[in-house]
Amino acid sequence: MRVAMIGTGYVGLVSGACFADFGHEVTCIDKDAGKIARLEDNIMPIYEPGLDTLVANNVKAGRLKFATGPAEAVAAADAVFIAVGTPSRRGDGHADLSYVYAVAEEIAHLVQGFTVVVTKSTVPVGTGDEIEAIIAKLRPDADVAVVSNPEFLREGAAINDFKRPDRVVVGIEDERARAVMTELYRPLNLNETPILFTGRRTSELIKYAANAFLAMKITFINEMADLCEAVGADVQQVARGIGLDNRIGSKFLHAGPGYGGSCFPKDTLALVRTAVTAGSPVRLIETTVEVNSARKKAMAAKIVAAMGGDVAGKTIGVLGLTFKPNTDDMRDAPSLDIVPALIAAGAKVQAYDPQGHEAKTMLADVDMKDGAYEACEGADALVILTEWDQFRALDLDRVKELMKGVALIDLRNVYRPAELKGRGFEYTSIGRRS
Ligand code: UGA
Repeated sequence: MRVAMIGTGYVGLVSGACFADFGHEVTCIDKDAGKIARLEDNIMPIYEPGLDTLVANNVKAGRLKFATGPAEAVAAADAVFIAVGTPSRRGDGHADLSYVYAVAEEIAHLVQGFTVVVTKSTVPVGTGDEIEAIIAKLRPDADVAVVSNPEFLREGAAINDFKRPDRVVVGIEDERARAVMTELYRPLNLNETPILFTGRRTSELIKYAANAFLAMKITFINEMADLCEAVGADVQQVARGIGLDNRIGSKFLHAGPGYGGSCFPKDTLALVRTAVTAGSPVRLIETTVEVNSARKKAMAAKIVAAMGGDVAGKTIGVLGLTFKPNTDDMRDAPSLDIVPALIAAGAKVQAYDPQGHEAKTMLADVDMKDGAYEACEGADALVILTEWDQFRALDLDRVKELMKGVALIDLRNVYRPAELKGRGFEYTSIGRRS
């Protein structure tokens, strides 16, 4: 199949490279000529494990190409994917669809023959209808079927999520699209991946419902963690105790400093807005959003309390700034709430993140170090904010020797309380007795 992938952000690039790896002929298109030139030199715009190799292999095999304009690839395509950004609109939290609609207008003039137009971008219910209307208005003769095919890729594990998904969701209104989409995902037959065909609006909603549910699950365990601290219980054991019930499931029950990233915060907010507009509010998700924002702020207070209530003039070492490991993404990272609050309380913060290059500008007052141990040097307290693998096996004796103080605040429960106490640390974690 010939695929045109419009937008080479995280979703577009990963999806394009994976479709090429499935054996399809893919052109990834982006207006940003610099980005396309770098991709042609195999320089990735994002950090995603394995992506550079996947791109290089498929370019070499002649299945993956890059272009700055859509004309040629769209005219030849069996399927045109829209994978551009849908950021939160400033002020009201609605998804900003201007990029999606601009692409719809552009491709309307270019499609030739029967073409399936697929939204990969996360778009609110009804967006597919609007895309269909835009194309029909500009090119009444165009023969297109507009399809919703949401992505369920986690940053840091995106290639595996694409190639070995739990399910693929495809929302169609035109039966002809079924054959094209089935053919595109045919390599997944090997693993008997369920491909769920639904109506287009249903598919659009499934994406938001999935992210909102996961965000709610994390928020639930985070509140349980607070309760565990108040009543002397252990949240790790609570998570295991409930997670072993198949109806609940053990995933996404890891308590932490609150969810961040480019998806959960934006998508929960957009779902809340969609529901209000539709006159059917989703109160659980409204509360999830509020509880999670409050939690990120409360984490700074937790650190201050663990340091005796006053951090003025103290040095805090921070390990990890990205919203989760194996990504360079800083969007809505808990660090962006926590670190400035510590600095405002008078602390000096020195930090290390293996990939958080952007943090240098986003957290300009932080002294960025080149390694985990450098971030420990002379620190009164050490905070583990993101659970990068390299922070899971620190030489704790060396850490202790380098630090001035003994407070270790582990917001990801990477270590075991007993292990740390035996080494003379004052250890604080999430939802467990210190
Ligand atoms: C999320 C979903 O997991 C993907 O299925 C979805 O496709 C994607 O959003 C999207 O809409 O594009 P992602 O944002 O990359 O993926 O990251 P997650 O692994 O889901 O983590 C999100 C946040 O939740 C992180 O801040 C993470 O630290 C936090 N989290 C996750 C927890 O605090 N506890 C957990 O148990 C799991």
